[in-house]
Amino acid sequence: MNTPKKLFVKTYGCQMNVYDSERMVEALGVSGYVETSTPDDADMILLNTCHIRERAAEKVYSELGRFRELKEANPDLKIGVAGCVAQAEGQEIMRRQPLVDLVVGPQSYHRLPALEARTRLGHKALDTDFPEDDKFETLRHRPKAPRGPAAFLTVQEGCDKFCAFCVVPYTRGAEVSRPATRILEEARDLVARGVRDITLLGQNVNAYHGAGERADEGGDWSLARLIWALNEIDGLERIRFTTSHPNDMADDLIAAHRDCAKLMPYLHLPVQSGSDRMLKRMNRKHSAAEYLRLIERIRAARPDILLSSDFIVGFPEETEADFQQTLDLIREVKFGQAYSFKYSSRPGTPAAERAQLDDTVMTDRLHRLQALLTQQQREIQDSMIGRKVSVLLERAGRQTGQMVGKSEYLHAVHVTDDRLSIGQTARVRITGSGTNSLTGVLV
Ligand code: 5AD
Ligand code: SF4
Repeated sequence: MNTPKKLFVKTYGCQMNVYDSERMVEALGVSGYVETSTPDDADMILLNTCHIRERAAEKVYSELGRFRELKEANPDLKIGVAGCVAQAEGQEIMRRQPLVDLVVGPQSYHRLPALEARTRLGHKALDTDFPEDDKFETLRHRPKAPRGPAAFLTVQEGCDKFCAFCVVPYTRGAEVSRPATRILEEARDLVARGVRDITLLGQNVNAYHGAGERADEGGDWSLARLIWALNEIDGLERIRFTTSHPNDMADDLIAAHRDCAKLMPYLHLPVQSGSDRMLKRMNRKHSAAEYLRLIERIRAARPDILLSSDFIVGFPEETEADFQQTLDLIREVKFGQAYSFKYSSRPGTPAAERAQLDDTVMTDRLHRLQALLTQQQREIQDSMIGRKVSVLLERAGRQTGQMVGKSEYLHAVHVTDDRLSIGQTARVRITGSGTNSLTGVLV
């Protein structure tokens, strides 16, 4: 028997990429690869990249440079670039970094075995097509190993919204939903392998509109309908979804947050800005008041829901008054979690043509925004003290006997008790709140 070749995959960016990296490992399993946790003894290194902000893309080039010594020590080592930088830059990557043997875009991962074979023959391999063949369909027949209790499941890819700052409609293409039947099949398979918590992924997940495949399944599935079907799977305990656009928060999805027991009380709903002037220039197609009204309706359906969002500061022409309106919106909503970024000009997007703000202004705004968000996050975390939550235990902690898991609200919770095991859902009373996690005791 041949000894397996070693594959090292490094993932940047979003959760979608985490899911894709798992699929790439499965795809290359067919070519005799097993995953390794270090690049040092790898036969192939794959970087699964992110193009969303400039710094994310630059990180890839500096990382690639660091593999030079490994390649000199082992001329058989193959280096590949996948993900959105691969899609956006294609051939340019090999020109800028001759160490690279393979470039593959997100729609072509099922073709990795053939691309890898080309590199073994000493050729460079490039595939950034949007192929006709269905990558999910090809990838789903790969052998699969048992796995931890929480998993991602991609249900939708791409985006038709064209926010003025965003590269996703260009790197990931138009919105495509996977058939509901296939998703349910994959979910059942994950549960059979030990998964208890599934996060449905899509760049615009709440715009999901997949079809069923059998006559009795109907042709028109919303995300809510998909969630209700997943709710029926025995052994699956928790359902989450990310990431959503406010304009696609349909009534049936809000109702599911009220009525569906397995749908967790956590919602990531990016707003980007609290200024109508900026929202309009960003092409977000909703106002700050509409967002606030939506939050009200979601909270009426599920009062304890923990809200999360994305913010961009320093979008072209943002004034201090616009920025203050973002702070006002944050004060009004109160977020338990948030991601915030300085605006980064992306070539090819409409906003790239507009005049940039001074970097010191952006940095100052980002710091003020993050101070407010951190304070809110901290207050919500502290308010959990004394409350009982359910914690799905995912892994051992650093201290002996300690386990770490997630609450319904996606807070990381540490519990020390030797009666606990991974995959179990424990009732826990929260006793402490740290920087980014809670501690608790079994009840
Ligand atoms: N600059 C800064 N942040 C951006 N995001 C997307 N594009 C840009 C950009 N050009 C942020 C948005 C989005 C998140 C995934 O990344 O907040 O919701
Ligand atoms: Fe980055 Fe967006 Fe691509 Fe994810 S989809 S890797 S966040 S650019």
